Amino acid sequence: MRRFLSCALSAAIVSLFFVLPSSAAEAPAKKEVDCSKCHAGLTAKKKVVHAAVSMGCPACHSGIDDALKVPHKKTTSFAKGLSADQPELCYGCHDKAKFTHTVVHAAIGMGCTACHNPHASDNEKLLIAPVPDLCMNCHDKAEFTKKNVHPPVADKMCLVCHDPHSSDNYALLQKAPSVICLDCHEEVAKRPHALAGFGGNGHSLGLPKAEKKEKKEPEGKKKEKMDPARQGKPFSCTSCHNPHSSDSVRLFRYPARTPMELCKNCHKY
Ligand code: HEC
Ligand code: HEC
Ligand code: HEC
Ligand code: HEC
Ligand code: HEC
Ligand code: HEC
Ligand code: HEC
Ligand code: HEC
Ligand code: HEC
Repeated sequence: MRRFLSCALSAAIVSLFFVLPSSAAEAPAKKEVDCSKCHAGLTAKKKVVHAAVSMGCPACHSGIDDALKVPHKKTTSFAKGLSADQPELCYGCHDKAKFTHTVVHAAIGMGCTACHNPHASDNEKLLIAPVPDLCMNCHDKAEFTKKNVHPPVADKMCLVCHDPHSSDNYALLQKAPSVICLDCHEEVAKRPHALAGFGGNGHSLGLPKAEKKEKKEPEGKKKEKMDPARQGKPFSCTSCHNPHSSDSVRLFRYPARTPMELCKNCHKY
């Protein structure tokens, strides 16, 4: 006795017929089924194919038990016959430590596939859209498109400053706040900044101790300086400047046409 099963999938696949010997009809051997016969569209013509796919579909879909029955018979309690929920599924092969630093991107909680296609993509790193379009799927574009745009933002370099997964720094920064800015603005720490003539040191830049060339402060004052105008945020370059874009000159965070108009947001004279 022979069993025939036909299936018409997407436009790419017209139709197929499967022919099974009677012995296999009762207990289909799932490992022998070539999934790509019906699902080639997942990876066809894509620039980047996930290396995991060449390890076989069951590397992730261990629960697709009867691939010839449509809808498939599933033996796991997870959606799509997956062997685990995200992100645990991905941690099976990718080092969890990268995704679990002290500051974790809330997007991780929405699933790795909020940003990555698990099978294939035309974008680098299997992204569902290139950066920064990807980021704008969830973040308001207005923050990045004010009158004066910071050149690294205009150049789509979000990842020069941010880790997309997790970081030990505030705001998922690649380095501590302020320190990251000095990578490109070294000169700012070399001469008095924002104010001159007050003992020649310039304004505090919110740099951690090791980066400072100023005189040492007593033990008790070692804790992080906080931004007086924004509760819970550390005091740093970005207390005065918007790192992305601004309608003011010098990327000032607040509406200000001159430096003095900026000062009044934190100081009363
Ligand atoms: C005979 C053709 C055929 C073969 C072979 C086949 N599939 Fe499918 N598969 C389908 C069809 C048809 C669907 C249903 C599409 C739908 O419901 O949108 C489907 C759906 C799926 C789904 C989605 C299930 C869901 O709950 O949404 C997964 C995952 C899947 N297949 C994995 C596999 C794997 C892994 C293999 C190989 C072990 C495989 N398929 C082999 C035809 C096939
Ligand atoms: C790295 C793990 C992984 C591998 C390997 C993998 N898949 Fe998937 N697959 C997933 C995840 C995760 C989803 C769910 C996507 C989502 O919910 O957004 C999925 C969803 C699907 C779906 C549902 C349709 C869709 O696009 O969401 C089908 C069909 C499917 N996989 C088939 C396959 C086939 C066939 C293979 C082998 C060629 C395969 N998968 C290999 C992780 C994987
Ligand atoms: C069965 C093992 C396995 C699983 C499970 C797995 N991956 Fe992978 N993945 C790999 C391998 C192998 C590579 C290639 C080597 C590397 O970059 O680490 C890779 C590479 C990647 C890359 C980089 C691709 C590139 O072009 O550089 C991304 C992104 C990725 N995986 C995301 C995921 C996501 C998201 C999941 C969970 C849905 C996942 N992986 C689950 C094995 C796996
Ligand atoms: C907010 C979007 C987003 C989410 C959510 C996300 N990723 Fe990524 N991922 C990226 C971006 C962007 C890159 C490219 C990084 C680069 O090019 O430097 C990347 C790169 C990768 C790479 C390639 C190696 C590397 O670190 O550059 C792997 C592997 C990876 N991601 C796995 C995962 C896994 C596993 C999850 C879920 C735990 C996940 N990603 C969740 C955006 C995301
Ligand atoms: C799937 C949705 C999603 C995508 C895509 C996404 N994010 Fe997020 N992101 C969030 C959510 C949710 C939060 C937490 C709420 C908030 O701050 O808006 C967040 C917060 C952040 C934060 C602040 C983290 C903190 O702890 O202060 C940064 C920085 C960030 N995202 C950068 C990025 C970058 C860069 C990209 C693109 C590579 C990106 N995001 C893509 C959802 C997303
Ligand atoms: C020059 C470095 C730099 C670049 C480039 C950069 N950011 Fe940021 N981003 C920061 C800093 C610093 C903060 C923390 C600001 C603060 O003090 O509140 C931040 C904060 C954020 C936040 C948290 C919410 C907020 O607005 O404060 C999100 C989301 C974010 N960035 C997304 C992005 C995206 C998307 C891109 C690319 C379009 C990008 N960033 C490019 C430095 C940068
Ligand atoms: C990847 C390099 C890079 C990084 C990192 C970077 N910047 Fe910039 N920034 C530039 C470039 C290029 C310009 C335009 C030329 C200039 O004014 O030096 C610029 C301009 C500026 C300006 C405007 C100057 C003006 O005259 O209008 C400010 C303010 C500024 N950056 C602050 C910051 C802050 C704050 C950080 C850290 C959150 C930072 N930058 C990190 C590259 C960078
Ligand atoms: C207390 C507020 C404040 C802080 C903190 C601050 N700035 Fe500024 N910044 C200013 C003011 C005010 C100006 C405008 C000076 C002028 O035009 O005379 C300025 C100007 C700049 C410029 C334009 C070129 C220049 O030097 O005049 C850059 C670039 C810049 N800042 C980067 C930074 C970086 C990087 C940090 C952190 C390391 C930082 N700023 C911290 C207030 C600040
Ligand atoms: C975002 C808030 C903020 C803005 C804007 C700001 N400052 Fe400050 N300023 C501070 C903080 C915080 C300190 C204390 C730093 C410390 O503890 O070393 C400080 C310290 C000072 C001091 C040292 C004396 C003191 O009160 O401790 C002077 C002088 C000063 N600021 C002047 C200015 C001037 C001038 C401007 C405008 C160009 C300005 N500030 C803009 C937050 C700000």
